[in-house]
Amino acid sequence: MKFTVAIDGPAAAGKGTISKAVAAEFGFAHLDTGLLYRAVGAVAADTGRDPAGVAHTLSTDDLARTDLRTAATAQEASKVAVIAEVRAALVDFQRSFAVKPGGAVLDGRDIGTVICPDADIKLYVTASPEERARRRHAELTGKGDDKPFEEVLADVKARDHRDATRDAAPMTKAADAHLIDTTNLSIDAAVAEAARWINEQLSKARA
Ligand code: CDP
Repeated sequence: MKFTVAIDGPAAAGKGTISKAVAAEFGFAHLDTGLLYRAVGAVAADTGRDPAGVAHTLSTDDLARTDLRTAATAQEASKVAVIAEVRAALVDFQRSFAVKPGGAVLDGRDIGTVICPDADIKLYVTASPEERARRRHAELTGKGDDKPFEEVLADVKARDHRDATRDAAPMTKAADAHLIDTTNLSIDAAVAEAARWINEQLSKARA
């Protein structure tokens, strides 16, 4: 049986953590769709190849690159993510993943709006730009990257702007998505709220 959970939201809002926890709790497969765009951005930046061509031929080796989580790759990802042909090339893979028997969680920017508009559950996870920059800054500091807070905040805002204002599948909350604002929530509280919502929808579906 298919059961699709779509989780969208801006950078460092907590959607990755929530997605992983929900997948583990409910036994669903998990796809971090940001990695697809990160891989396309990283390969295109390295090779100078056309991003759409890279997206059409994306390989498991590209997805296993060790530099996908860097701040530089995040910016490259959001640049190639504005290209409609790049997005189109990645649709089938994401939709096939979404209907995996046993359930699937996909997190990204356009899962509830474009990739899986009929998802069984939709969540939109957000937080203030300052709080998200604080989290990303702490994460980078932990990895030995001493990028100043003000620069991290500027990066977060630049990426939000690019993601929300592009023509192709802009980042936005689906009308039927449940909003979770994690600005003042601990990780545990945010995960608990997502699980509560999913359980409530599951009970309604079974009633
Ligand atoms: O982890 P973080 O939230 O910082 O970023 P990510 O989810 O890995 O996404 C990196 C970039 O890929 C985003 O800024 C978007 O531009 C793009 N992206 C997208 O356009 N659509 C998705 N479904 C996922 C990511």
